[in-house]
Amino acid sequence: QSGLREPADRLGLRMGTAVSAHLLDQQVYSDTAATEFNTITHENSLKWESVQPQRGQYSFANADRVMEFAQANDQQVHGHTLVWHSQLPSWVEDGGFSAPELTDITTEHIETTMGRYAGEIATWDVVNEPFNEDGTFRDSVFHRTLGEDYVAQALTTADAVDPDARLFVNDYNIEGINAKSDGMYALARSLLDQGVPLDGIGIQGHLIAGQVPGDIRQNIERFTDLGLEVVITELDIRMDLPVTQAKLDQQAADYARVMDACLAVPGCSGVSVWGVTDAHSWVPDVFEGQGAALPIDEAYEPKPAYWAVSEALGGD
Ligand code: G3I
Repeated sequence: QSGLREPADRLGLRMGTAVSAHLLDQQVYSDTAATEFNTITHENSLKWESVQPQRGQYSFANADRVMEFAQANDQQVHGHTLVWHSQLPSWVEDGGFSAPELTDITTEHIETTMGRYAGEIATWDVVNEPFNEDGTFRDSVFHRTLGEDYVAQALTTADAVDPDARLFVNDYNIEGINAKSDGMYALARSLLDQGVPLDGIGIQGHLIAGQVPGDIRQNIERFTDLGLEVVITELDIRMDLPVTQAKLDQQAADYARVMDACLAVPGCSGVSVWGVTDAHSWVPDVFEGQGAALPIDEAYEPKPAYWAVSEALGGD
């Protein structure tokens, strides 16, 4: 079956999933990731702690594995992520570096990581999760040491490494219009005003069934009105377990709403779900008693949400 990839290809929409390098050995996992999606995001293997766990010691085996998989299956890759407060090794976080030192370290990390895949990764989450819920900048070693300018610095460095890559800032809880997405909007305007090379906004989309904001399209539009591209980068819609038919139907309607919001806006170029099936989702590990957040279930069976996404894409 390819209820997702084929209609997405026809529309020219990037329909993606997060992939874990260590799961690609499982045939049903890799077959499903290849058949259903035209775009891949490394779930963990491009993060700082994965690629440079010790200063100057890079390890790209897992990231390369995912790249080879994507290339073998003619899939685009969304690069995740270069500058993030989480999954950041302690040598960076607790290193006590001065501003010039941290700039050098970050520049070198971006040059090495992005440089390795220049021309192969078309879009990058250069900065991930810079905001608090109230729209102020989140405390992190980057913000503490470099101030707000760390975002502009990272984007400028990334642009120099691969001028053809499209550079994103990515965050969660910015699906609808709220204080946090207002913060992102203000940052985007300010970066564009300063001539900083920002190309897009990643809206993660970690949502709850029955609680999907009603103004996602309007929110996407205010960013595309600035000339920016928007991607829904990490969509999942979780529910309290156990699963019931009513919850699955609600979730399907919610998936359709997110798809329709993106498809209604020309500058919204893709939607990626955060995991191939419910068996591979981060949700149950973090939210006790919740799960079933993806369109395909643990047994690789399509859920109502799968058919809702397929239908939104114009599939049959
Ligand atoms: O690598 C270790 C492994 O050695 C160990 O045996 C195992 C035991 O728990 O843990 C492994 O590390 C885990 C890692 O994923 C790799 O599987 C961490 O515990 C676990 O915390 C980590 O979770 C990831 C999480 O980011 C970390 O923040 C999730 O897989 C990943 O889906 C999630 O993705 C994030 C996006 O990057 C950014 N947006 C939010 C999204 C969901 O949290």
